[in-house]
Amino acid sequence: MASSFFLVSLLAIMVIGAASASNMNNHFDITWGDGRGKILNNNELLTLSLDKASGSGFKSKNEYLFGKIDMQLKLVAGNSAGTVTAYYLSSQGATWDEIDFEFLGNLSGDPYTVHTNVFSQGKGNREQQFHLWFDPTADFHTYSILWKPQRIIFSVDSIPIREFKNSESIGVPFPKNQPMRIYSSLWNADDWATRGGLIKTDWTHAPFTASYRNFNADACVVTSGGSSCGSTSNSVSGSNNNKAWLSQELDSTSQERMRWVQKNYMIYNYCTDTKRFPQGLPKECTLS
Ligand SMILES: *[C@@H]1O[C@H](CO)[C@@H](O)[C@H](O)[C@H]1NC(C)=O
Repeated sequence: MASSFFLVSLLAIMVIGAASASNMNNHFDITWGDGRGKILNNNELLTLSLDKASGSGFKSKNEYLFGKIDMQLKLVAGNSAGTVTAYYLSSQGATWDEIDFEFLGNLSGDPYTVHTNVFSQGKGNREQQFHLWFDPTADFHTYSILWKPQRIIFSVDSIPIREFKNSESIGVPFPKNQPMRIYSSLWNADDWATRGGLIKTDWTHAPFTASYRNFNADACVVTSGGSSCGSTSNSVSGSNNNKAWLSQELDSTSQERMRWVQKNYMIYNYCTDTKRFPQGLPKECTLS
């Protein structure tokens, strides 16, 4: 049949140039905020800002299905109470998956809250919150999401703070079938963010600004009909195998560090909130 000559491969392979290491313009689109989101400094820096009229946000051009996704963020400095910087992965639709970092601002000198959550098939309620062991507004720090079929690991400056394991074996859905984009936004949430909404955003300090740079994704990029895994950059050391992240697990040093963070900096864990779950803690909480 002639049609066999016309077999068309839908596999579109996306080759990501090594030169695009941290070219924010190649990887992200500013999606809202009417000019409050900007890509600057030769495309190396992305900034979001918030004033009384509006916040702003961006999303990734690519969709990913698994990967190790790193971004350096410098959060809103000074009196950032009431502001929220959300940085997350999300799929679309009513039964979406989502992996969240949210940074809740605070009064000058008071600690930011780093809020984390994992949604699978539209259901979240898996919050863990932390303070940080440094001032996240003084410098850039690296926030990473490692997303694999077996586990999700949230890290800060390569120190794991949270691991969410695949518990499908006991009937807990895990995000693994829906490609996700990276999203970020800076907005005003003073109705709840800081001490339950008691502290209002002080607009005399506006505009508030959060900055992003050195994005790196060792990830599988999904395109129409296919997926290809690679890195957005040749790492400076050059020694990283492109797929090293796929086999990455927490070694004993990392586990020890995670325990240190959880012991000293965790301020909320849904898995210990028996008041919230009077019928019993969520199933995945029984697996430690
Ligand atoms: C703000 O600072 C207070 C006082 O240290 C702390 O209890 C709280 O967790 C911090 N974060 C937020 C978002 O209110």
